[in-house]
Amino acid sequence: MGKIILTGDRPTGRLHIGHYVGSLRRRVELQNSGQFEKIFIMIADAQALTDNADNPEKVRQNIIEVALDYLSAGLDPEKSVLFIQSQISELTELTFFYNNLVTVQRLQRNPTVKAEIQMRGFSDNTDGSEPKAGIPVGFFCYPISQAADITAFKATTVPVGEDQEPMIEQTREIVRKFNSVYGTTLVEPEIMLPENSACLRLPGTDGKAKMSKSLGNCIYLSDSEEEVNAKVRGMFTDPLHLQVSDPGHIEGNTVFTYLDAFCRPEHFGMFRECFVGRKSSFTFNSLDEVKAQYQAGGLGDVMIKNFLSRVLNDTLEPIRQRRHELEKNIPYVYDILRRGSEQARAVAARTLSDVKKAMKINYFDEGVLNQLIKEQSEKYQDK
Ligand code: TRP
Repeated sequence: MGKIILTGDRPTGRLHIGHYVGSLRRRVELQNSGQFEKIFIMIADAQALTDNADNPEKVRQNIIEVALDYLSAGLDPEKSVLFIQSQISELTELTFFYNNLVTVQRLQRNPTVKAEIQMRGFSDNTDGSEPKAGIPVGFFCYPISQAADITAFKATTVPVGEDQEPMIEQTREIVRKFNSVYGTTLVEPEIMLPENSACLRLPGTDGKAKMSKSLGNCIYLSDSEEEVNAKVRGMFTDPLHLQVSDPGHIEGNTVFTYLDAFCRPEHFGMFRECFVGRKSSFTFNSLDEVKAQYQAGGLGDVMIKNFLSRVLNDTLEPIRQRRHELEKNIPYVYDILRRGSEQARAVAARTLSDVKKAMKINYFDEGVLNQLIKEQSEKYQDK
């Protein structure tokens, strides 16, 4: 059996460079590796609605943004199936059956859901604080629906960021439980995390742990060169590095974390002039050399920020160019999503049929009804 990928994103905003290094770049590489039998990339609009129920327009508008980001980053509709979650109604049916295999207590332990409940202020108000809106049931249960997303496509491999680890673990538990109760039907997926630790969770430009739209600390894939430069200029570095001559710190220094995630060996040749200054000049051939000089002192933040801007724009420029082209052809993008959703639906329908069969709730399938009628008629005949 070949390997199958399923992954996706909630359409709540444009994708940023944290999405890119955390998962999107990898997906494109995996897509082009030829090692996967099928690749499904899902725009998780139904999941986005679990905490945006009152704002469907936001979700609706961001579907195209995410699709444009996907295609401009290099996902190719000839190689990957791009689709919209809500169009696959089979997913909700699978969720309904999986709901029975998960306890409320188990969901309460999911650390990502816990953190999100905190962040969104869905507190249950046990601490006597202000009454809050409470936790929407759909939101609380979204890890179960995520298990449906993954298993519907018999995915073996789920490339995602670190924050999705608890979801994949929960999916694995549901698969094991389902298979042990109803017989082997579902495939247990494996998570695929970024190898580079800088990519696991790229911090925001302000140095906060997470890049997030609500914190206003993102660099978007679609940002212009000027926007990227301005954001890099304002970036958090080392608060102790006051004078250029002071020794600088690398750990927790956002500029270096971004360089770890984006810098490639050829950049040192391409952007040599970034390290030529009026007072001092350097020649670097690797990031390790830049880091060593920064730690020793004498290398200023302006130089390293300038270098980072060039490095980022080198990666983002081709993505921007492709986006501009695609923005002129929105019907083409929707056509891709429509065709992808049709393909995805056919696959999910086959899994749902396997699931119903395993659960013996396929009463009207070929042969099953006759058997049921026979068994039950005999039962009543005996009375
Ligand atoms: N939870 C993911 C996110 O917040 C989106 C998502 C929904 C997903 N279903 C998925 C990711 C299935 C991987 C597999 O970005």
